[in-house]
Amino acid sequence: MNTRVTVKTIREMKQNGKKIVSLTAYDASFARVIDEQGVDVILVGDSLGMVMQGHDSTVPVSVDDIVYHTKSVAPQCKRALLMADLPFMSYTDPQQAIRNAARLMQQGGAHIIKLEGGEAQLHTVRHMTRHGVPVCAHLGLTPQTVHKLGGYHVQGREQEVARQMLSDALALQDAGADALVLECVPVDLAKQLTDELQIPTIGIGAGRVCDGQVLVLQDMIGISSLAPKFTANFLRDGRNIQEAIGAYVKAVREGSFPADEQCFF
Ligand code: KIV
Repeated sequence: MNTRVTVKTIREMKQNGKKIVSLTAYDASFARVIDEQGVDVILVGDSLGMVMQGHDSTVPVSVDDIVYHTKSVAPQCKRALLMADLPFMSYTDPQQAIRNAARLMQQGGAHIIKLEGGEAQLHTVRHMTRHGVPVCAHLGLTPQTVHKLGGYHVQGREQEVARQMLSDALALQDAGADALVLECVPVDLAKQLTDELQIPTIGIGAGRVCDGQVLVLQDMIGISSLAPKFTANFLRDGRNIQEAIGAYVKAVREGSFPADEQCFF
């Protein structure tokens, strides 16, 4: 049965121990296949700046870009929850954030909005969720701040950073966030966050202890110029695209992806 996945569904999946599968899409053709293969959450990520536009970071991506790609994906998204990213500098205060979130939902067709950051985003998350915008927060490696972080590195190995991440995650949940993406976080910390939160955690480079997994499509079909450690090429062993995405869905559901070699300890 093709019932639409909602924020309520993913929270129930966490409660029932059913893994959430997420994958990025930026165009109609892939979105259709991804939706048909049973991916729960399709993300129109600002990673499109790298994999679609060829930049070396997500920083140049605009709200217009995300609206354009979300619009292409939305009609194909029959079952999946459609998540779209607020790009760099598009949510520097609550009013700007809600204006741009409204564009992603009304013009693009997104169901839930993702933004990066902890403490600094609490007012924004509270403002958005109070006005009926579902929000997914994003902690750990936050690619929009790559120039501040000094590169794409694992986050949370130092005790102080780990403590701050835990306190940010709990505060974001209190502010109304519906889910949390954890990127490049050591497995023990991801486990602690997942255990302490009621909202689902969706990991990328954060271990299979998370309530779900997300990957960038181009990484999981092995066509990115640089494959990060936390990804795997599912388009192998003679599989076609549909079979590769199906294999990813199966591997996440049964807990065989990510394996230890894709994790940080
Ligand atoms: O932009 C994106 O694709 C993302 C994922 C890597 C989680 O934020």
